[in-house]
Amino acid sequence: MNVKELKLVYSQERIQGRVAALGAEIDACYGDAPLLVVCVLKGASIFFADLVRALKKPAVELDFVRLSSYGTGAVSTRTITFSKDMELSPEGKHVLVVEDIVDTGHTMHFLLQQLSARRPLSVRVAALVDKYARRERHIVTDFAGFSLQDGFIVGYGLDYAEQYRNLPAVYEVIPE
Ligand code: PRP
Repeated sequence: MNVKELKLVYSQERIQGRVAALGAEIDACYGDAPLLVVCVLKGASIFFADLVRALKKPAVELDFVRLSSYGTGAVSTRTITFSKDMELSPEGKHVLVVEDIVDTGHTMHFLLQQLSARRPLSVRVAALVDKYARRERHIVTDFAGFSLQDGFIVGYGLDYAEQYRNLPAVYEVIPE
């Protein structure tokens, strides 16, 4: 795909406003209970960095995972594995998984299954963008920044061929 232009979808100011609101929602949900926040690399890195700094909670631990998806067939036949697993144990903890985007839901389905088997107190999901229309797995996004029907988006962590992650706002890629 050759990129013709990038069309603004969520401005830096709008994102900042949503991140602050999500931080307040998360604080209200957990109160003073300790929380382990898990970033799904690479896309969620920018959102994660802003979101954890929007929390006023006294006890927050941070960890990171990276997932790989294999398979040449349909999306539903993909195999997902950890290319980097967590370093902290989620056992007995409230866990918040932070994603940039939940699309078909396969990535999050795999991660939630893996996490649930490690006996956490609870697992919830925060996503900058909930792309609900393409869902193939039932995933509830507990804290969603924005809901998006369609469009290929980049910026604020999201890439196209590893480009555009550093843009401070989110744009739709318009192909030539
Ligand atoms: C993207 C995104 C999610 C996943 C969502 O990751 O960050 O992890 O795809 O898609 P799904 O709901 O259809 O499973 P990607 O594999 O592009 O890696 P990246 O985060 O390193 O860009």
